Amino acid sequence: MKNLISIYSLTRQEIEKIIVLTGKIKYEKKVKKGGKPLAGKILAMIFEKPSLRTRVTFEVGMTQLGGNTIYLSSEDVQLGKREAVSDVAKNLSRWVDGIMIRTYHQEKIEILDRTANIPVINGLSDLEHPCQVLGDFFTILEKKKSFKNLKICFIGDGNNVCYSLMFAAAKLGVNISLAIPDGYRPGKKYVNMAKKDALISGSKIEFFKNPYLAVKDADVVYTDVWTSMGKEKERKKRIKHFKNYQVNRKLLDKAHKDFIVMHCLPAHRGEEITGEVIDGLHSVVFDQAENRLHVQKAILTLLMKEKVKKGK
Ligand code: CP
Ligand code: NVA
Repeated sequence: MKNLISIYSLTRQEIEKIIVLTGKIKYEKKVKKGGKPLAGKILAMIFEKPSLRTRVTFEVGMTQLGGNTIYLSSEDVQLGKREAVSDVAKNLSRWVDGIMIRTYHQEKIEILDRTANIPVINGLSDLEHPCQVLGDFFTILEKKKSFKNLKICFIGDGNNVCYSLMFAAAKLGVNISLAIPDGYRPGKKYVNMAKKDALISGSKIEFFKNPYLAVKDADVVYTDVWTSMGKEKERKKRIKHFKNYQVNRKLLDKAHKDFIVMHCLPAHRGEEITGEVIDGLHSVVFDQAENRLHVQKAILTLLMKEKVKKGK
């Protein structure tokens, strides 16, 4: 593994390796006992959008592993505006050991990755949220013990989290049903990419308009905001289009009796999910948030322990 720019570009083996190492870090406190594997390493973090979980867990993770972080806001870097993305990549490669970036544009992440000779990590783009979903599949395994015969149901907007969930389910052989209103579904090209992986892994990917049909017998019910960062101007329209897609008690009656409820957070309580459900017994949303720390420590260790010079 030389980077983490999307779930789609990972192999099933790489995903499994990250999940296994996350368990070791969380439960065996492997890294704590083993000292500071990233002592002296520095991660530059570029944020073009706001964050609570991603920023704090990367900072805490790097500190616990013995390294340091540098926070760069969009005003500082002005990626692609003050300076070409490739020039930023080449500069950072001379000073730091890794780059984590949260941006609107997946393309910027790809240019950074092509032109930096240090590992690049996607901390969310409009297309994918790989760190989130790797942590989520670790959480699912913690709660359900196996991925075998599991059904995940995603309800809501076909957004970055939805894409990464679909790709990960397809790679890992997990069935996924998606209830998404017309006009908000993932692009055909990406669905076909996931379906190709699903053919190999045996996973079933099904799209529904009606959330009550999608949620039937689901082991995991996942939702995310209807209005993602950057879409704020569409909020009113989206509330109208998504009003039948709320995860609430009535909808969850149709899920498997041992279902868990997941949400990447931040949540808009009363929109995509009720407060009662997010605070309810089936909700694992704060375990997901905790696991962001453990999974990212695994990712950072795999990518940065031995500095991978990509020869650029
Ligand atoms: N789930 C997640 O990535 O949260 P933040 O936007 O707060 O980082
Ligand atoms: N889909 C959400 C995820 C936030 C972690 C967004 O992009 O705003």
